[in-house]
Amino acid sequence: MRKTVAILYGGRSVEHGVSINSARNIFQYINRKKFNPVAIGISEKGEWYQTKEVTADIEKGEPLSLILNAAAPSFKAKTKKIVPDIIFPVLHGTDGEDGSVQGLLQAMNLPMVGTGVAGSAMSMNKLVAKKMLKLAGIPVADFLAFSFEEQSSIRFDIIKKKLGLPFMVKSANLGSSVGVSKVKSEKDFKKAIQEAFRYDDSVLIEKYIQGREIECAILGNDPPEASLPGEIVISKKYEFYSFDAKYVDGEAVQIKVPALLEKRVTEKIRTLSVQAYRTLMCADFARVDLFLSHEGRVFVNEINTIPGFTNSSMFPMMWQERGISFSDLITKLIDLADQRYKKSQRINRGYSSLLKY
Ligand SMILES: Nc1ncnc2c1ncn2[C@@H]1O[C@H](COP(=O)(O)OP(=O)(O)O)[C@@H](O)[C@H]1O
Ligand SMILES: [Mg+2]
Repeated sequence: MRKTVAILYGGRSVEHGVSINSARNIFQYINRKKFNPVAIGISEKGEWYQTKEVTADIEKGEPLSLILNAAAPSFKAKTKKIVPDIIFPVLHGTDGEDGSVQGLLQAMNLPMVGTGVAGSAMSMNKLVAKKMLKLAGIPVADFLAFSFEEQSSIRFDIIKKKLGLPFMVKSANLGSSVGVSKVKSEKDFKKAIQEAFRYDDSVLIEKYIQGREIECAILGNDPPEASLPGEIVISKKYEFYSFDAKYVDGEAVQIKVPALLEKRVTEKIRTLSVQAYRTLMCADFARVDLFLSHEGRVFVNEINTIPGFTNSSMFPMMWQERGISFSDLITKLIDLADQRYKKSQRINRGYSSLLKY
C-alpha cells in the first residue's frame, strides 16, 4: 500500500516563494512506488488549497477544509476527501516552521515529518534558541536582548562597549536575513533597530563574529547523524549573508560541500551540531548554521528545522555528498517520521478518563 503524503507548501511567510521551490523538488523526486503525494498549497493570505502539483498559482486549486476530528483526521475538497497517512510540511519561516502548523497537525493527531511544536517554536525564536544553547554549554556569539518597551533605553555607546564594533542587530523571530543588519557606526544604528522592531517585539544584538559561515545537516533521531560540514563563501560585495545575497543575486555565493577544514574542526562542528539539535528538541532533520571564527573558534548561529530543498539548497547537497540521493532522502525523512509517530503512540493521552465527569 502506498502511503498518502500531504506536502504542505507556500504559507503566510516572507519565505513563501522559497517554500514553493523546495516543495516542487520534493513533489518531483518523491518515490511514487512507495508514496502517493498530494500537494496542499497555503496562499499568502493563508487559504489552503489542493493543487494538482506544486505551483505558484496556489489559488487555482480546490479550496480545502480540515475535518476537526482527531480520531479520523482528513481534508475535504469540493469533489473529494483526502485522508493523509502523513504530512510533510515544506514551509519555511512564520506559521510553518515556528510550531503553529505543527500544533494544528498535532491536535488533529496527524503524523508529520520534522520537529514538533516545542522544538520548532524554540528554534525559530532566535532569543529563546540562544538562551537554550548557552544553557547547554554550546558556544554562541555574545548577545543582548531588548523588548519593544525597552527601545528607548538601547544606547549605542553602551552596546559598543559591551560587544565592540561592528555588531549585528536582528529581529528575534524571522528568517532569510529579513530584519538583520550589521552596524558599523552610530549612523547605521537607529535604522537597524527600527528595521528589527518592524518585524518583532523582541530584538537581539550580537557580537559580530569575523569568520567563515559553515552549515551542518542533521538527519535522524536515535541517534541523529551529522553530515560533513559545508561552507557558504559570500562575495566581498556583501557585508554578510543578506536577503539579496541569499535569493536575489545568483552570483553572490559559492557553496563548498564539503568545506575544506581540518579534521579536528570538522569533528567539533559535527559534535556541536548534534548537541544543538538535541538541545532544541529537533526531530527527523535540521540544518545547523555555525560560524568558524578567524581564531578557530566554533559558534552555533541558528537551527533551521525545515531547511531548504531548492536546487541550490545545502541540506540535500550535504546528504548527496554522503551518498544519499534526493529521492532516498525524502523516503528516509518520511520513514523516520513514521517510526517516531508509532513510538509516540505508547504515551497515554487519555487524561480525562482518569476522572469521572
Ligand atoms: N553574530 C554574527 N556575526 C557575524 N555575522 C552574523 C552574525 N549573526 C548573523 N550574521 C550574518 O547575518 C546572516 C543572517 O543572520 P541569521 O541569524 O542567520 O538570520 P536568518 O535566520 O535570517 O538567516 C548570517 O548568515 C550571517 O551572514
Ligand atoms: Mg541564517
